Parts: sequence; C-alpha cells; structure tokens
Amino acid sequence: MRTGKMKRAVVSAAILSGLLLIAGADAQAEDTNATSNAEITAAEAWAFPLDPPSASHAPKHDPRQLVHVPGSVRAYTWAQIDTDHFVPDWFPQDHPPAPQIVMVGRKPGWPWPCAECHLPNGQGDIISPSPAGLPKAYIIEQVMAFRRGERGASLPSTSQEMAKEARAVTDQDLQLAADYFSKLPYRSRTRVVETATVPKTHWQHYVLVPDKDGAREPIAHRIVETPADYEDHQLGDEHVENIAYVPPGSIARGAQIAAKGEGAAQACESCHGAKLQGIGVVPPLAGRSPTYIVRELILFRTGKRTNPQAAPMVQEASRLAVDDMIAVAAYAASRKP
Ligand code: HEC
Ligand code: HEC
Repeated sequence: MRTGKMKRAVVSAAILSGLLLIAGADAQAEDTNATSNAEITAAEAWAFPLDPPSASHAPKHDPRQLVHVPGSVRAYTWAQIDTDHFVPDWFPQDHPPAPQIVMVGRKPGWPWPCAECHLPNGQGDIISPSPAGLPKAYIIEQVMAFRRGERGASLPSTSQEMAKEARAVTDQDLQLAADYFSKLPYRSRTRVVETATVPKTHWQHYVLVPDKDGAREPIAHRIVETPADYEDHQLGDEHVENIAYVPPGSIARGAQIAAKGEGAAQACESCHGAKLQGIGVVPPLAGRSPTYIVRELILFRTGKRTNPQAAPMVQEASRLAVDDMIAVAAYAASRKP
C-alpha cells in the first residue's frame, strides 16, 4: 500500500513537470526533436493501418455453411458472420456478460458495438488497441478526447472511426462500457521476434499479411506485426497470436530506455511504473501491440493527441528518435501485462 501511494506521488510530480515544461515546448521544438519529419513519415507507412482498395477481401461463402475457430465450441453461419456489425462471441467463458453497447451497439448506425473493433473480451488486435485492463478514468478521458477532436481528427483513418464512435455514444453507455472493459484482465497475445529479415508483406484490410510467394526482405527501421492466422483474425478470434518482428537488439536497447531514458527523454518507468504496468491513470504498456505504441508516439510527436493529459507525452515523444520508439515499443510488448 505504502509503495503504491509513493509511486502515485512521484507520477503526479512527473506529470506536473511535464505540464509546466510544455508551455515552452513550441519555442524549443526545433532543438528537442530527436527525429526528422522524413523519418516520422517513413514510420507512418508501417505504423498507420491501411485498407487499400485493391486488396482482396473475404471470398464469397455459402451463407448456410458453419464457421469455426480453433478451441471454440461455438459455430456461426457465414450469413451471421457477414451481417454488418454482428459480433461473434467465440469464447464467452473469457468474459462476464457484456453490456448492450459493447456487444450490439445501438442500432441503426452509430454507435457501433465496441466489441466489433475491440473484441468481446476487450483484448483488441493489431488495428484497435485493447481497452481491457485500462483504468476506467483513462478510458472515459480518452473517449472524451476523441469526442472533442483532440484525438482521431486526422490519420490513421481507423482513429477517425473511433472519433465517430465517441461522438455517437451516450455518456451512460460510455460509463457502462468503461466499467466493463476496465475490469477485464489484459492478456498479451503478441510474440516479439528479433530478426534481421522479415516476410515481405502487403496491407490487407488494415493488417500486414505475408506475401504468398514467401519472399523475405531486410527489416530495416520497422516493426512488422502480423496475425499468425489471417483468416481467424478476420473472424474476430481473440486467441490468434500476433507476431511482431523487430530489429535485432531492440528489446535490450528498449529496456535501457524504459529504465534510464535516452538523451532528454525521461525513463518511461518513472511514469508508467517499474514493470510498465501503469500507475493510477497513466496507462499500462506491458504486453501491448508494439505497432500501436509506436503509432501513438508518432501521434503525440506530430500533435495529434492534444488533450491536456497528453502534454508530458508530447514532450517525451519529440525527444525520441524513431529507432528508440521501435526499441522501447519492442521491449514494452515483450513484458508481461
Ligand atoms: C470502428 C472501430 C471501433 C469501435 C466500434 C470502437 N473503437 Fe475504440 N478505438 C478504435 C481504434 C482504431 C482506436 C485507436 C485509434 C488510434 O490509433 O489512436 C480506438 C481507441 C480507443 C480507446 C483508447 C485506448 C488507449 O489505449 O488509449 C478507448 C478507451 C476506446 N477506443 C474505447 C472504445 C469504446 C468504449 C467503444 C464503444 C463505445 C469503442 N472504443 C468502439 C476503434 C473502435
Ligand atoms: C512524465 C510522465 C511520462 C513519461 C516519462 C512517459 N509517459 Fe507515456 N504517458 C504518460 C501519460 C500521463 C499518458 C496518458 C496520456 C493521456 O491521458 O492522454 C501516457 C501515455 C502513453 C502512451 C499511450 C498509451 C495508450 O494506451 O494510448 C504511450 C504509447 C506511452 N505513453 C509511451 C511512453 C514511452 C514509450 C515512454 C518512455 C520513452 C513514456 N511513455 C514516458 C506519461 C508519461
């Protein structure tokens, strides 16, 4: 108990100093940016999900045929699966009964069911982050930020969808959803793999998918995160493993940045906790999608998360080079939630 309280005190001091520093951030932006705009733009190419029109979507199915995913006793017809905003619940034993806003939304139109993107047990995927295990106050604060246009006002397009959702959801439903998600444990399903070469991939409905010919290429300055089974991922299987390929040495380097900081950037652990499991309203990073972590660092850095609580992160992200963002994200993703 005592250490918990002390940690919280340290965090609020750290956040306060971040808030005070931000006042002078504009003037210093030129000096403190540890990474060039060109590097950021290059990183957006793999960190911001795309749905190119040329990508082939699900093939035509027999609407009466039953569909299964590994390990689930449930079956749905293709007619059900292909119904707009239908959310399959493959593993009902994984979560308590969910409120209507989470499983079915408020038809017709927006708001959509939260679980359509964040999954019934709130685990999220490579495209939409996990609200499971986030503090209730943080969940509400972020949805309000989306509603006010302080998040999700530009790219990636997936974040604009979340902003539409935030404008449509009622305050009462938001309370119910935030309460539900904050009580669910988050279980990482990301395997972080250090490697010099990766499968060549292409975008298919917002995720990177290995090319059919099995070709490989250098990883270079990237994270390549891909579902181990794309078909099951598409079916909303909460148990599909995601593989995150990261450059060799990333995890050890990231551990150092998390614990000690880098240049003018502070140690992540000073605010996100010694195990990156979050403290108070500072969200957890451990075990979360490393692509999501880099994506958000870019959004902080480029002024796309502008709610007042984000001020310390705007500073922090502008002090990290893209390679540091990759390393620290790889380390965080490799940790136990
Ligand atoms: C159409 C898909 C979609 C739906 C429906 C949706 N979300 Fe999201 N949500 C997203 C995406 C995508 C993001 C991340 C945006 C980004 O890249 O910053 C997100 C982000 C969030 C975040 C921020 C998480 C964090 O770690 O900062 C919260 C909280 C959240 N959503 C809650 C909800 C709730 C509650 C509902 C239902 C009322 C909901 N979402 C419905 C797609 C969706
Ligand atoms: C001075 C305190 C502080 C430090 C140091 C700090 N953070 Fe944060 N971080 C925060 C706060 C506060 C938030 C929540 C912002 C909000 O509420 O909008 C946050 C949010 C984030 C998010 C968004 C999480 C989500 O679910 O959307 C990421 C990613 C992140 N931090 C990564 C890092 C990394 C990586 C480091 C170290 C390089 C770091 N942070 C260091 C305070 C800090």
